[in-house]
Amino acid sequence: MHLRATVAFDAESLLRAQALADRFDVPCLDARHLDTLKPRAIHRLVADNVDELEQDGVFVCAQDGVRLLSGGDQDGLMIQADFVGATVSYRREKGGGRRQMIAKAMGLKSGVFPHVLDATAGLGGDAFVLASLGCRLTLLERSPIVRALLAEGLSHGLRVAEETDPELSKILSAMSLHEADASTHLDQLEGAACPDVVYLDPMFPERSKSALVKKEMRVFHRLVGEDADAGALLPLALSKARYRVVVKRPRLAPFLNETKPSHSLTGKRNRFDVYVLKGMPDRLG
Ligand SMILES: C[S@@+](CC[C@H](N)C(=O)[O-])C[C@H]1O[C@@H](n2cnc3c(N)ncnc32)[C@H](O)[C@@H]1O
Repeated sequence: MHLRATVAFDAESLLRAQALADRFDVPCLDARHLDTLKPRAIHRLVADNVDELEQDGVFVCAQDGVRLLSGGDQDGLMIQADFVGATVSYRREKGGGRRQMIAKAMGLKSGVFPHVLDATAGLGGDAFVLASLGCRLTLLERSPIVRALLAEGLSHGLRVAEETDPELSKILSAMSLHEADASTHLDQLEGAACPDVVYLDPMFPERSKSALVKKEMRVFHRLVGEDADAGALLPLALSKARYRVVVKRPRLAPFLNETKPSHSLTGKRNRFDVYVLKGMPDRLG
C-alpha cells in the first residue's frame, strides 16, 4: 500500500499533516471545512484533489492523533496506534497484570523487568502491555507507514499524558522506536546492547471470526504483506537474546522456522512459544 495524501482536520494538525506529507512526498489536503471525519467525506476530498484511493491510504490528522484510512471500501476502517483511548486504558488498569499470558511468556515476576526488543512492533499494542508492566522496550518496525503511525501514536500519547497522567508518561517514555529492519538491527547487536528478551510477532494469515478483527487484519495485510521472511529472524534472535526469545503465533500455527520451543503457552486465539536460553536472575532491570 502507498500513501496518497495527508489530510488535516483542524488548525492544530496542519503542521503535523504537512510534515508527514513532506516525508512521504504526497500532497497535504486542508479538511478544516469538513464537519465530519467520516471515511466517505475524506474519500471524496481525496478523489476531488488527488485521485481515487483504491488500494492506497491517507493519513488523517486530527487533535486526537493520526489515523490511516485505507482505500477501497467506502466505509473504510481507520487504524491508529492508540495509547490513550478507553480500551487501552481499561486493559492497562484491569488487564490482569503479570497474570497475562504475554507476561508469563516473558518471564516477568516481582523485581524482574527485562529489556525487551520487540523486533516486529506493528502498532505497538503488545509493547505497550509490556511497558505497562515495567519492561523497557526497544521497538523495530520496517514498514514506513506503520512506523509513522506508531511514532505519531507515541508522541500524541506523551503529549496527552504529560498534562494528565504521569504514570502513562513513564510507560510511553520506556518505549523507544527505531527505524530498522529486525535482521539488520539484530545482526549488529553486540555485548551490552543485546536485549534480555527478543519478542517476535510476525504476520500470519488471520482466521479470527470477529468481523472487526478481520477487517483490521485485512487492512494490515494490505499494508505490510505476509512477513514471509520471518523464519530467518528466529536463529538471529536466539543468537542475540540474553535470556529468552518469545514468538507469538496463532493457536494452531506451526512453529516458526520449524524450531521447537522450550515450552508454549496457549490461549483461545494465540500461542506464545518460549525459547529459553538461560534462567532469569532474581532481579533484573
Ligand atoms: C503482526 S504485526 C505486530 C503486531 C504487534 N505485536 C502489536 O501488538 O501491534 C507484525 C509487524 O512486524 C513488522 N515486521 C515484520 N518483519 C519485520 C522485520 N524484519 N523488521 C521490522 N519489522 C518487521 C511488520 O511490518 C508488521 O508491522
